[in-house]
Amino acid sequence: MLNGAIAPMVFPSPHPLARHKLSLLRRQDTEPKKFRELIGELAMMLVYEATQDLPLQPETVQTPLTSTLGATMAEKVGLVPILRAGLGMVEGAWRLLPQAEVWHLGLYRDEKTLRPVEYYNKLPVSPRVQLCLILDPMLATGGSACAAVAVLKRWGVERIKFVGLIAAPEGIHTLHAEHPDVAIHVAAVDERLTTTADGFPAGFIWPGLGDAGDRQFGTGDPSPVHER
Ligand code: PRP
Repeated sequence: MLNGAIAPMVFPSPHPLARHKLSLLRRQDTEPKKFRELIGELAMMLVYEATQDLPLQPETVQTPLTSTLGATMAEKVGLVPILRAGLGMVEGAWRLLPQAEVWHLGLYRDEKTLRPVEYYNKLPVSPRVQLCLILDPMLATGGSACAAVAVLKRWGVERIKFVGLIAAPEGIHTLHAEHPDVAIHVAAVDERLTTTADGFPAGFIWPGLGDAGDRQFGTGDPSPVHER
């Protein structure tokens, strides 16, 4: 499904540390505290990669020694975490973009239809940024990402990128088909989505890492207590 026509807009991280941290994240015995730390670290790395084409404006800087040519960001960037799971990516992104405004968007996936349901929206009247980074660990069917992009486009954002941790080919295909202008930055592209024949609910990323929301917030199946 990842043919040459859409591959140019998909950027799996080539960085060995991203591969390493993702592998730790996938382990089923990684407890919520460690899971949250890894999400934060991966978010920082992926935001670094997603912002490589940010435009700059020149400035003259007075160093302690002399005056020289420097540069500062020419555009404002907004972070749009998709609740809940995207919340865990904000701190990591903020470490690189401390001035970024954060606009929360609440979407959950209906368990039966797998369609996104919008339940919270904290966007101001008009956008004050030129680039929005959608933060969501998972791109599964792509329904949530498409809905988020549509909201931001209606709102008037000029440029949008999706920053996630893992994606299924099906989700990439859907997001690219509906919004070919949106670049997709992830740590990895996984094999496929589950079907009920797998013995799991349909629409989970395979091999994946489970439910990123439940694993961050400890709301999944009961597991042994970890103190620290
Ligand atoms: C997950 C994930 C995405 C969405 C991806 O959220 O964080 O938002 O599913 O699925 P899709 O590509 O098929 O739309 P979920 O609905 O589980 O909500 P949560 O973050 O509150 O756990």
